Amino acid sequence: MTAQLLDGNALGQKLRAGFKQRAEELAAQGMRPGLAVILVGEDPASQVYVRNKVNACQQAGFHSDKFTFPADVAPQVVLDKIAELNADPKIHGILVQLPLPRQFDADAVLDAIAAEKDVDGFRAENVGALMQGQPCFIPCTPYGVMKFFEDAGISLKGKEAVVVGRSNIVGKPMAMLLLHAGATVTICHSQTRDLAEHCRRADILVAAVGRPKMITGDMVKPGAVVIDVGINRLQDGPDAGKLCGDVDFASVKDVAAFITPVPGGVGPMTITMLLANTLESAERALNA
Ligand code: GUN
Repeated sequence: MTAQLLDGNALGQKLRAGFKQRAEELAAQGMRPGLAVILVGEDPASQVYVRNKVNACQQAGFHSDKFTFPADVAPQVVLDKIAELNADPKIHGILVQLPLPRQFDADAVLDAIAAEKDVDGFRAENVGALMQGQPCFIPCTPYGVMKFFEDAGISLKGKEAVVVGRSNIVGKPMAMLLLHAGATVTICHSQTRDLAEHCRRADILVAAVGRPKMITGDMVKPGAVVIDVGINRLQDGPDAGKLCGDVDFASVKDVAAFITPVPGGVGPMTITMLLANTLESAERALNA
């Protein structure tokens, strides 16, 4: 193995230690950061993510509330809950776990969250502010990836960055953050011709597609920084049931200079940055 591991558990712990101090300063003024998480349906992966988010809040000393609804709930019921949470002074962040069941207009649900409590950064105003490079809530996963670069001293200026995946949650905001940091950015997706050729040009390669081990060593430039956002559960073979990323760790680790593992890479950083955004929201509420 030549690549250096970018350890999300270690970096997450380091950042969370700093949050504790800020939370204590808020507590001295009678304020406790509060996050409300809404989960609709019984998707097992979403249930795990939501549990991890609520647990992380509790460990950080934040207030947290979880609201679960059956998959066939009427969208208005969820919109009413969001309206109630928008008006609740104990709550500084509201997160609706995605994906939502088919009867929902996800954009309408996200836009119902008060802008100052949109700690996921998914509302249209936050997306626009991110595009313009204005202060906003930065979506947690790409925000966490940027912290890896910052912590490891990886400069992005003038670098070729390739983001594989164009989701609103990761791919698009990730590309925008890399662009603002001075990288030359390419976004690849399911219709991209010759994906491997694009990937091989990347100094910084971010995989966020949800396809197990699709980025292999022969697609990676020697010395590249490889960030694996995928969390996939293997269906067959000797490792069935185990988690793996979108990157074939076994072959890429010998080519890349830096690599994130799965699990223990980007995942813990997403939750860490959710705490960061919730804390920041509480600080803004106190200063408002
Ligand atoms: N589903 C997958 N990732 C995320 C995320 O970062 N936030 C929300 N709300 N849902 C998700």
